[in-house]
Amino acid sequence: MYKIEKSSELSMISREIRNVQKRTIGFVPTMGALHEGHLSLIRFSKEKSDFTIASIFVNPTQFNNPEDYTHYPRQLEMDIQLLEEAGCDLVFLPTYDEIYPEGTSRLPHYELGYLETIMEGKHRPEHFQGVCQVVHRLLSIVEPDYLFLGEKDLQQCKVIEHLIKLTGLEDKMRLIICPTLREQDGLAMSSRNLRLTPEQRKSAPLLFKALSELKAGFGAADYPKLKANLLNHLQQHSFEVHYLELANSDTLEILNGWNLQVSNTACIAATIGKVRLIDNIRLFSKGE
Ligand code: PAF
Repeated sequence: MYKIEKSSELSMISREIRNVQKRTIGFVPTMGALHEGHLSLIRFSKEKSDFTIASIFVNPTQFNNPEDYTHYPRQLEMDIQLLEEAGCDLVFLPTYDEIYPEGTSRLPHYELGYLETIMEGKHRPEHFQGVCQVVHRLLSIVEPDYLFLGEKDLQQCKVIEHLIKLTGLEDKMRLIICPTLREQDGLAMSSRNLRLTPEQRKSAPLLFKALSELKAGFGAADYPKLKANLLNHLQQHSFEVHYLELANSDTLEILNGWNLQVSNTACIAATIGKVRLIDNIRLFSKGE
């Protein structure tokens, strides 16, 4: 596996692969602290493309909470080993200056509209601007044919889908959204799970359980009542719930109740102690 730190070097390699060798490139951007979910993205990329590139960069501009940035898990050596074992062809390990050569004070602002006003956008001001800044920069360096993202961050996937259209990249590359991987007890795999204390780790699957109860009640239960009961239950187990929403799976428009005219996804974000977790599950797929 190649390890590249310079953007200019990676751009050259990527052009050689695409234009000279006529091979397709799959790209998996990450912030490290890799788990099976990330490795499954590498496997999807290897199936779909000829050459797989991963990046590891803990992007400061997307952390609205400085403490979250400081404590974000970092385990570079182990990550490199995991990528190597998964058969990744190249890992990009840029420094801050490689990503932001002119600093971060005059970065572009992206018009994200409604997507930035709900759920993660509402609760983490500027978060999606930071995501777009880094992903736009990474895409311009790597110029992949395929971009692989995990569905656990559904709203991020929608934002990046929007970014691809906004920046005119949709003819050049395809976004592939891959399923969320879960621990045996249902907890969605996430780098932040590493920060949970053993006691918090025991409670963490309650988020998935709440989403599963919404799925079980879909169309039949009284939605506002079920939602209120679930919020109450989570609070009793030391969660501070930032939101629990029912959304149109395609547009993420918030729904006030079960809606059989569109696909429905339930989304949740909550902190337990100092760790913020998010998750979502599809409750109903229109046309199935
Ligand atoms: O999902 C993540 O790990 C990050 O938001 C991403 C897409 C790598 C951008 O920093």
